[in-house]
Amino acid sequence: MIQLAPSILSADFARLGEHARAAEEGGASLLHVDVMDGHFVPNITLGPPVVASLRRATRLPLDCHLMIEDPDQYIPAFAEAGADWISVHQEACRHLNRTLELIRSHGARPGVVINPATPVEFISEVLGIVDYVLVMSVNPGFGGQKFIASTLHKVRALVELRSARRLQFRIEMDGGISAETVVAAVTAGVEILVAGNAVFGHGDPAANARELLKLATEATWQKV
Ligand code: DX5
Ligand code: ZN
Repeated sequence: MIQLAPSILSADFARLGEHARAAEEGGASLLHVDVMDGHFVPNITLGPPVVASLRRATRLPLDCHLMIEDPDQYIPAFAEAGADWISVHQEACRHLNRTLELIRSHGARPGVVINPATPVEFISEVLGIVDYVLVMSVNPGFGGQKFIASTLHKVRALVELRSARRLQFRIEMDGGISAETVVAAVTAGVEILVAGNAVFGHGDPAANARELLKLATEATWQKV
């Protein structure tokens, strides 16, 4: 099943509740929350208080993508604020296994993220302890960037590894997902689509979400 996780990074931060409800109405399964610290990535966004407010505004599970240095220091606060899924970057973690276990011990689903320049081999040892792998299809930091198609082979590699090792993790992709790129992502094996600009960048977010999901679902039918 294909799931859509609209990224509130491209929403109007003064109308987050309204935009979260529009995403829900458009068929979103998750709400993607981009946390940036100005160190790991060259941008600053939001912290646990905003996650707590979102938690009260929507029933959708909150998928918190931590683009921060030293995530261990903040994971308890994000879990406490209501993050249901928490992902951390391989590139930001000195003891990745410990960090992923920490997420689970706080009652959230752990995910690991790799940047476009990071190979799948770098997360091979943690594939058995994550609920999802997030493959970045842009360099993290900003919404509205161009999709990097050369990252798709990593999705195909993950699909193969998962089946060879009988693992369960889901595969998410983030960055530049739009009506133009969604079919390539789903065809490669992406199951959770993050979309910021394509949902909140123009027009009606609920209609935009529905349209993306429709294209993604049709692409899955083509696969079988
Ligand atoms: C980028 C963020 C993304 C971003 C995606 O660093 O992790 O989640 O919001 O935005 P679009 O879909 O506009 O590329
Ligand atoms: Zn993200």
